[in-house]
Formats: sequence, C-alpha cells, structure tokens
Amino acid sequence: MSDLLKNKNILIMGVRNKWSIAWGIAQAAKAQGANLIFTYLGDREKESLLKLTSDMGEIDAYPCDVGSEEDMDSLFSAIKSKYGVLHGLVHAIAFAKSEDLQDTFVNTSKDGFRLAMDISVYSFIDVAKRAQELMTEGGSILTLTYRGSVKVSPGYNIMGVAKAALEASVRYASYELGNKNIRVNAISAGPIKTMSAKGVKNFSDILDVVEKKAPLKRNVTLEDLGKTAVYLLGDLSSGLTGEIIYIDAGYNIMGV
Ligand SMILES: NC(=O)c1ccc[n+]([C@@H]2O[C@H](COP(=O)([O-])OP(=O)(O)OC[C@H]3O[C@@H](n4cnc5c(N)ncnc54)[C@H](O)[C@@H]3O)[C@@H](O)[C@H]2O)c1
Repeated sequence: MSDLLKNKNILIMGVRNKWSIAWGIAQAAKAQGANLIFTYLGDREKESLLKLTSDMGEIDAYPCDVGSEEDMDSLFSAIKSKYGVLHGLVHAIAFAKSEDLQDTFVNTSKDGFRLAMDISVYSFIDVAKRAQELMTEGGSILTLTYRGSVKVSPGYNIMGVAKAALEASVRYASYELGNKNIRVNAISAGPIKTMSAKGVKNFSDILDVVEKKAPLKRNVTLEDLGKTAVYLLGDLSSGLTGEIIYIDAGYNIMGV
C-alpha cells in the first residue's frame, strides 16, 4: 500500500458488482490509503458490496437512490455527522430505459429523456452541490463519461446526449467550485463490459473495434481507470480541473 490518498475521505457512488468501474476505482483508492464511504442502490447491490469489501474490514455504506431527495439528504447528513469533511467524490452512475437504448434515437420518449437526464446528469449536479459543503479542505469530484457524447456511437442514443450534458456540467461546476479549491473532472472511459454497458446494443462489437483500432491495441481495464482516478482524486493533479480525460487506449484520437 502506498499513501497518495492517505487520510482522505472519499465517497464512492455506483458499485453494482465486481465489474463496476466504481469498484475498480474503489480498489485503487483503498490501496492508496483512502477512507472509503460507499453508497448502494437496493438490497442486491448492498449484498454484493458487502461481499466485495469483506477483506476491507468494516465499511461504511449508505443506501442511496440519487433520484430520491430523502436518500440524498440522509446520505450527506450522515457523512457530515460522522466525518465532518469530505475530500473526494466519485459519481459512477447512469441510467436510461432499455427501450430508449434499443430503439432508434429519434424515438426517444419524453419520459425516458427526463429519466436519463435526471439520473445520469442532474444527480451529478446535486452531489456536487451537497459535497462542496463538506469539502472544507478543498476536494476532488470525479464522474464517468463516454465519447458517445461527442461522436455518434449507434445505439448509445439518449446516453450520448446525457453524457454531453454531464461533460458541460463538469465544466460549469469546476468553474464555480474552483475558488474553494474543489476540482471537478471526468474520465471518458473506453468501453468496459459492465451491467450498464450490456444495455447498449451491439456492445461487444464496440469492444472489438476498439481492440483492433486503438493505438494500444487493447481495451482498457478497471485497473487503468483506477490509476487515473487516484491521480484525479489526489494531489498529483492539483492544477487540473474542468477536464474530460480520455482513458480509452487512445481510441479517441483515431480518424478512421
Ligand atoms: N462500461 C462502460 O463501457 C462505460 C464507459 C464509459 C463510461 N461509463 C460510465 O461509468 C459509470 C458507471 O457505470 P458502469 O459501466 O460501471 O456500470 P454499472 O452498472 O456497474 O454501474 C452503474 C451504477 O449506477 C447505479 N445507478 C443507476 N441508477 C441509479 C439511481 N437511481 N441511484 C443510484 N445509483 C444508480 C447502479 O446502481 C450502478 O451501481 C456510468 O456513468 C457509465 O455511463 C461506462
């Protein structure tokens, strides 16, 4: 264990199972000495989280549906009373109705649009607002995005629109929170086979294309993402804010 994140209280939102990007980040942050606080959605996720963290000793985990004002209130008030100070937050949460990822983009329902934007974008603004109150020693807020925000990735549909809004939110939040020494960034991750990714049509084709065309000739791993998250959450990235950092084996630079 090293200590790049020693004595830092870091809230990790979005561990569903061992394939989750948030779990890759949690493991990397823990290895650097962070005090982790987790949220989970529902009993199944709680059970999975407890199993995954069984060798981390007693962990602190709170139920949180980001669409619920009540859950968000109790999460942040619990963190405030137990820790007082928060140093880092990882928002690894997104949701879209499966029919909006399976149908054509122009058929996106109004209801599906609202839900995807609410859970995948507004939740980020909401956690940034709440976290800043507790980041009295400065801090780092991190979210996860995908290049479907800037390029068409057939089937990514409403999530592409949501990620574009999320990336703009990163820039606006970083501007406003900078004077409190709170940095806000996003990792634009290459495709990783997670539960959420399985909802995207032809996802395995995307993995194949990246492996073939990316400069590094492979897909990224949870370890790749975890290492960058440690950099973004800690002091090594002290001058960096408002950025969308591609961790995708270089795929985004390719023209063909
Ligand atoms: N997997 C990929 O290829 C990929 C690529 C780039 C970006 N991302 C992004 O990474 C993030 C994490 O996704 P993942 O791929 O690890 O999938 P995942 O399914 O493992 O994690 C998604 C998490 O979002 C949570 N979530 C959904 N709705 C919620 C709600 N209402 N309240 C609270 N939590 C809720 C789920 O419970 C789950 O823990 C997402 O923002 C995703 O868009 C994923």
